[in-house]
Amino acid sequence: MSEHTQTLQPTDKSVWLVTGAGRGLGVDIAKAALAAGHAVVATARSTDSIDQALGSHDALLAVPLDVTDPAAAEAAVRAAVERFGRLDVVVNNAGSFQAGFFEEMSPEAFRSQIESTLFGPVNVTRAALPQMRTQRSGLVITISSTAGIASTGDFLTAYAASKFGVEGFMEGLATEVAPFGIDTMLVEPGFFRTELLSPQSTQYAAPSIEDYADRTTATIQAWQGMDGQQGGDPAKLAAALVHLAGLQERPSRFAAGADAVELFETKAQALIDQANAHRELSTSLAHDNA
Ligand SMILES: NC(=O)c1ccc[n+]([C@@H]2O[C@H](COP(=O)([O-])OP(=O)(O)OC[C@H]3O[C@@H](n4cnc5c(N)ncnc54)[C@H](OP(=O)(O)O)[C@@H]3O)[C@@H](O)[C@H]2O)c1
Repeated sequence: MSEHTQTLQPTDKSVWLVTGAGRGLGVDIAKAALAAGHAVVATARSTDSIDQALGSHDALLAVPLDVTDPAAAEAAVRAAVERFGRLDVVVNNAGSFQAGFFEEMSPEAFRSQIESTLFGPVNVTRAALPQMRTQRSGLVITISSTAGIASTGDFLTAYAASKFGVEGFMEGLATEVAPFGIDTMLVEPGFFRTELLSPQSTQYAAPSIEDYADRTTATIQAWQGMDGQQGGDPAKLAAALVHLAGLQERPSRFAAGADAVELFETKAQALIDQANAHRELSTSLAHDNA
């Protein structure tokens, strides 16, 4: 970090912009940031949902934002700076779940997952960076998923593709913006009790291929059975994120939940095992004269 940059101090009051803040984890993040004394620009496709979930507050601004719309992302950042004078923390939180076997999922459904959970964060981050660069400070938090570290079950191809994508996007961005005092933080939640697995947020591909029929029925039942039963408490995760954002040394990745920690460790070991599995062949691929 250059001498011209400044890091938010834990005691500083900062300006947060949260996407998907009308339902689910985004509401808890907005509440936790407000409770800590920060100003919050809560964004959602419908600002009515923000009013219902968060009410009104001097330090709260509700702004319409569909994250798939780059112009709306720019307008939201402008509104934040007009109202609060700066923008310190962006939380790319908005998300949905296109669930289904890859072969049964329409190309449109697959693409819509990438639009919302990969290009959504790309759009919002692109809109926020000029302001953060001018300030020489900022933090971009992106809610990825354990499915961005390892895809461990059926129905996850589109979701995991978007979450793996956002992992690469944020990791690649980190070194580019660090010299301007801008940090990135990826968050990989395990299962949290939000509305993600409800019919409002999860769309199942219509069964169409007999070879998959039994597994499709069983997998839909399994996912639906988890709705409302997830162990993770989104209010606790939101409080953890507000805490982490205030640290001098922030993690670039945060495993959210005991299930996430376990999955990180399993994946790390799997990568080591894969590196070792054909080590001699893997390391024998250079030109003979290299
Ligand atoms: N809950 C979990 O177990 C879990 C696990 C891993 C990762 N995550 C991630 O956590 C994030 C938050 O999800 P959640 O669990 O809180 O789910 P949720 O309860 O279903 O909430 C999703 C939120 O995203 C919004 N949204 C969806 N598409 C949008 C778009 N195009 N533009 C703007 N807002 C949009 C929804 O708003 P509308 O009301 O307009 O639909 C809603 O506010 C997501 O990125 C999700 O992938 C969740």
